[in-house]
Amino acid sequence: MGEGISDYTKNIVDLRRHMWLEGVEVELRRLIWQIAIVGKYISAKIHESNRKLAGLKNVYGDDQLALDRVSDDIMRNKLQFSGFVREYASEELEDIVKIGTGKEKYIVTADPLDGSSLVDSNLAIGTIIGIHKDSVLDVGRKTMVAALYITYGPLITMIYSAGRGAHEFVLDREGEYVLSQENIRLKEKGSIFSPGGLRRDWMPEHLKFVEQLEKDGYKLRYSGGFVPDINQIIIKRGGVFTYPALKNSPQGKLRLLFELQPMAFIMEQAGGQATDGNEDILSIKVENINQLSPVYIGSSAEVQLAKQMLS
Ligand code: AHG
Ligand code: MN
Ligand code: MN
Repeated sequence: MGEGISDYTKNIVDLRRHMWLEGVEVELRRLIWQIAIVGKYISAKIHESNRKLAGLKNVYGDDQLALDRVSDDIMRNKLQFSGFVREYASEELEDIVKIGTGKEKYIVTADPLDGSSLVDSNLAIGTIIGIHKDSVLDVGRKTMVAALYITYGPLITMIYSAGRGAHEFVLDREGEYVLSQENIRLKEKGSIFSPGGLRRDWMPEHLKFVEQLEKDGYKLRYSGGFVPDINQIIIKRGGVFTYPALKNSPQGKLRLLFELQPMAFIMEQAGGQATDGNEDILSIKVENINQLSPVYIGSSAEVQLAKQMLS
């Protein structure tokens, strides 16, 4: 006879129980929980669009865009009535939108679907969320109170931090997010690197940094999805992801508010670092919501090496 239900529930730590045990403030617990549930709806849409895409090669491009927008609609509509969010900013919207009465506690930033161009090849993609208590047009270290990302891969996993460490959950068959890794801590140094951008567009000092990693035997791991590429560095406890300044785009490609700040918040909570090559990602003032920034993010040895070689 297997474990009784009571034994099963006694042993698992689900997301809500974990946040309560961590002493996360009740409204923030409820908001993170609601966002985690939105991940299930977005995952359903990804599967639906995959089915629709089969055979519809020529509309593929439009369908990708629809998937980004649908994911954003779902996230915004769910947060609108959460009671905890006064403003919402997303990669899919031109500007910050007021979605509450103005009295709610938090502001949410979203990259609702990161890596939509990978859906057709069935590679892992993700959702990236930042939770702020004050205006997002400031320094991340001052305004951010939590961050999370969901990875839609063979398993659906979620890593969150509310400033008390970084913790991973796996969505189980019953639809529960169950704790799988608690207080994730990166090593000082890893053995993988994710080099974004084209080699021919790299600045000379960045090329030297990558060549140093290659000389030191780092293995190249790059899927084209920011979420799974970062998740791999966190789960393997080390390594570095970079999308650098490029000759034709000195600010690189990734978005400071929607992609880099949440991942930097989580990476620092896991003992890692994140920089634009000069200053910490969380120390950069956000002047406009679509601001881009070069990024070097991962375990401290590699990020420090990047800063040295770029200065
Ligand atoms: P998004 O799908 O939200 O626009 O993000 C795509 C980003 C990011 O996921 C990834 O790291 C980067 O694009 C990959 O860029 P390249 O295709 O230039 O490598
Ligand atoms: Mn993205
Ligand atoms: Mn996106």
